[in-house]
Amino acid sequence: MKKTVVLMASPRLQSNTDILANKAIDGIRGDGAEEHQIDKFDLVEMQEYVCVACGQCRQAGECLEYPEINHVLEKIAAADGLVLATPTWWLGPSSYLKIFIDHWGAFLRPDYSSRIAGKKALILACCGNPEVNLAEKVCDDLKQIVDFLGLEVRGMLGVKGVNEFGAVVRDDIALEKAFTLGATLYST
Ligand SMILES: Cc1cc2nc3c(=O)[nH]c(=O)nc-3n(C[C@H](O)[C@H](O)[C@H](O)COP(=O)(O)O)c2cc1C
Repeated sequence: MKKTVVLMASPRLQSNTDILANKAIDGIRGDGAEEHQIDKFDLVEMQEYVCVACGQCRQAGECLEYPEINHVLEKIAAADGLVLATPTWWLGPSSYLKIFIDHWGAFLRPDYSSRIAGKKALILACCGNPEVNLAEKVCDDLKQIVDFLGLEVRGMLGVKGVNEFGAVVRDDIALEKAFTLGATLYST
């Protein structure tokens, strides 16, 4: 059984990010023949836990300031795969994802080597601009972080031109790509 953690970083109801994340989850589950444990976290619920830069996480391997978030860090550490899904906010991921990523010092040892190398990863992002695909830039930026932690990025999807609530439901190509990325997350 493969264990996957999905981090969903939009605060909007009917969010494009959530729709893409759910498509990837459908792909991971596939035909249901294989058992999957998928833990999806809404990062809006962790918005108050902003890193205070105490600098103790690399030694401790956990967040000492906010024990409330450690169950999510532990889930990621125990997982086979990680899916990041975020809207584009001013050329970057949403602040909700950034707030959570700032706790990933707990995934590093004091010498900056990774405690969580070897997992598979997918990165999904969307943006409103129909011309300039900044969601792809967000994917590229997040890939650098994920690469640094030694995860293997199996695929990325940056969807442009989806500004309205849930607009991505009309983008069949994007939905199919998200599904396929999920379906191939663990394929050899
Ligand atoms: C604070 C904020 C900043 C944004 N910045 C950008 C941007 O730089 N480029 C862009 O194309 N869209 C930008 N958008 C639009 C969102 O990326 C777009 O509406 C996206 O579909 C939202 O995803 P969601 O439905 O999952 O929340 C921004 C939206 C917000 C709320």
